[in-house]
Formats: sequence, C-alpha cells, structure tokens
Amino acid sequence: MNKLEKSFLNKDQFGEDFLWGVSTAAFQTEGAHDADGKGPSIWDVFTRQKGKIKNGHHAINACDFYNCYKDDIHLIKELNIPNFRFSISWSRIMPSGLHPVNQAGIAYYNKIIDFLLECKIEPWVTLYHWDLPHALEIKGGWTNRECTSWFADYTEVCAQHFGDRVKNWMVINEPSVFTGAGYFLGIHAPGKKGITNYLKAIHHVTLATTAGAKKLRHNIPEANIGTTFSCTHIEPFSDKPSDIQAAKRVDTLLNRTFIEPILGLGYPQNDLPVLKKLNNYIQGDDLDNLAFDFDFIGLQCYTREIVKSSLLTPYIGAELVSAEKRNVISTEMGWEIYPPALYHILQKFNSYSGIKKIIITENGAAFPDKVVNGKVYDIKRTHYIQDHLEQLFKAKQEGCKADGYFVWSLTDNFEWAEGYNARFGLVYIDFETQKRTIKQSGIWFRDFLEKNKEIL
Ligand code: NOJ
Repeated sequence: MNKLEKSFLNKDQFGEDFLWGVSTAAFQTEGAHDADGKGPSIWDVFTRQKGKIKNGHHAINACDFYNCYKDDIHLIKELNIPNFRFSISWSRIMPSGLHPVNQAGIAYYNKIIDFLLECKIEPWVTLYHWDLPHALEIKGGWTNRECTSWFADYTEVCAQHFGDRVKNWMVINEPSVFTGAGYFLGIHAPGKKGITNYLKAIHHVTLATTAGAKKLRHNIPEANIGTTFSCTHIEPFSDKPSDIQAAKRVDTLLNRTFIEPILGLGYPQNDLPVLKKLNNYIQGDDLDNLAFDFDFIGLQCYTREIVKSSLLTPYIGAELVSAEKRNVISTEMGWEIYPPALYHILQKFNSYSGIKKIIITENGAAFPDKVVNGKVYDIKRTHYIQDHLEQLFKAKQEGCKADGYFVWSLTDNFEWAEGYNARFGLVYIDFETQKRTIKQSGIWFRDFLEKNKEIL
C-alpha cells in the first residue's frame, strides 16, 4: 500500500507550537537582477562566467519572485503554510555593500513583509544566503576580516527597517557549504580556491555570525534569533580504524566547525588538525567573542555520506563514496535518499547542551518532474517528506528538541551550479512562461496542514 493510501501522522501529533514552513532564498527566486538600483552580487558575476553553471543557466529572471511575489504568497496561503522563510539580497539594500542605503530595495522588502502579514503568514528572514555584494568581493569578500563589520552594518540596516514587523531572523545560511564551495573548491561564487582563502573565510564568517546576531539583539530585543547550518549524517565505509578516523574528520568539518565556536566551544581543532591553521587568523579575544546565545538553531539536512580514508585528499585524508557508486536510491542531486539521517542528526545536535531550540529550516528533494495533463505527480517527493517527518517525529518522541520543519522549497528555482535542472519545489515552474502548477506533494502538504482534515 502506498503512503498516500494509508493513514500518516497527523500534524497535531507534532504539538500546537510546532512550526510548519517553507523556505526560499533571494538569488534563487527573485530575478530582477538589476532592478531599482540593485547592485551586482558575486552570484550575478559568477553566473555570467562561461562553464560555471550547468547548461549555461543564469538567474537574471529566476522565478521572477520580484514581480510575482503576490502570486507566490497567495500560493503559500493556499497551501496552508503559516511560516515563510526568505532571504534579503544585501546588494538590493546596499548596492555597494556599504552605505548609502537604496530606498527602493527597502521598499521592495517592505512590500513582501507587509503582504505576508496581511495574508497572516509569519516572515522568517535570512540575512545572508550567499549573495555577497560584488563590490565587497573586489575588496576580498569573506577573506577580508573587515567583511565582518560590513555585514554587521548591513544587518543593522535590516533590523532598523524591518524589525518592527519581522520577529524571526536567521543570520547566515549554511556557512560550511558556501565557504567550502565558494572559497576552497571554487565551484560556487566567488570561485576562489585554496586552503588560505578557505580558512580566512571560515573565521570571518564565524565572526560575522556573532556580530550580526548581536546587532539584531541590540536593535530588536524581542526578536527570535537563529542561524542555519547544513548537516549530513556521516558513517564510515568500513569498520577499519582508518575509515572510522576519516569519518570523524569529515563529520568535524561538515557538522561541527561552524556551530561549536558559536556555542562557546571553540573550533574543533583536535579532531580536524588542519583547523589549527585558523590560529593564523584568530586575533586577540576573538574566541571569547564568538559565543552567542541563539534562540534557535536551524538545521538543514538532506542526506547521509559514507566516508572512506584516502591519502589522495589533502588536509582531510578522506573521500565520500557517492550514492551512485554504492548503487543506492538517490535524488536528482545524486544525494542518497536516507530518511534516518534526519533522526541521527537531531540526536547529534541535541547532545549540545547550549542549543535552546532546533528548527529544521530546510529539507526536501529534487526530482525530474514533468507536467502531464496539467498535473505534476511527484510521488517520490511526497514520500521523501513523509519519511523525513516520521524520523523527526521519532526523535521528538524520544525527547529530542525538534521545534519546526520548513520544506525546501516553495517553487522550483535556481539551484546554484546545477541551474534549473534540479527541481525542489512543492510548486512547479515553467521557466519559459513563469506558470506555476502546484505539484501533488504540495497538495499533500496542504491537506496535511489543514487543521483537523483527515489525511487520506
Ligand atoms: C541548501 C541551500 O540553503 C539552498 O540554497 C539549496 O538550494 C538547497 N540546500 C538545496 O541544495
């Protein structure tokens, strides 16, 4: 019997205070890349370079959320989703990354926030979802320590303009991914490579996380302040000590490097020796200043990775054994579909005593959806979400903090280096016409969220 036919968990079982939501990001959805005074971001520049994005895709128009925001907010309402997470584009607000402020940018986000509130949807704002103003990249971007104070100033501008209505804030999105892909591997904007760029970016982004959070607390004392981390359940390929050690290093890099300093635990340098090189960039009382008492931590978990020791990989001595090589089911991103990963991740992060609340701020899957007779029958996505919710519920029942679940994403959108091929939405977009079609997974989620509605 398939899951749509059997009774599934009822939303009420998660508790009245459990937060249900959907997440997006500015660069992936807005388009309007130079509208109303917006300056270029590193992603505008990167997507223009040949060979960086699959099929030469770019995000000049993306989902045209800039103009279609009312339609999309109506869709959120229609799907019964009470919380909407989106990000602010720094270079829309401050085209050069610094003062002066672009009033048209402020007006745009005011329209979004006001319309959400009018529709009784709670705004959840991410301040930095990877689109650094290009003008700041010219000054070194995240490799420049000053980026911390540029970010703090931008945060203050957002807090002062939107803080009267936005109560839920996330400072930085997935630092581990954008520093690794953008400053070490060079496969994301700004396309920098090498260990020195990477280590500098790690420390400056961590400093900025705390600096931004402090600005929010100061300007909006009653705000609910969090920040989000990507996390992946890690397992060794075999029980050989070398694989177990390699798995521990990868776990440290992907799951611990960014959160531990903000919890006041410092960088996990003993379990990942290359992080000792961070000492070259740590100044004065930096380490004492990194701790911040976040109201919640956002976790974004999609899969697990299996790790093998490898002498060929510098600094980490480990390689990931892909889902394809292991011959296991995976999504369009090549990520293994392994719902217990979410359970293990919740257990892992619950073991930190300094975390007050945990919200899953992203979870979802990309599949090659098609519109057939006006419908998108994406049963795999529905199952993916249901199976992950079951794992979240199991962890919660065992006493883990698990206070919310936001699906990535509302609509199909620009999936960074993958372009438009990886469709993550509950809503399908025809990128030629911008026509939206709610997928079957969206209909399932809508019915699940409708109060007291019995699920099929
Ligand atoms: C993490 C990122 O925050 C988001 O931008 C991305 O699209 C999804 N995961 C899927 O890869």
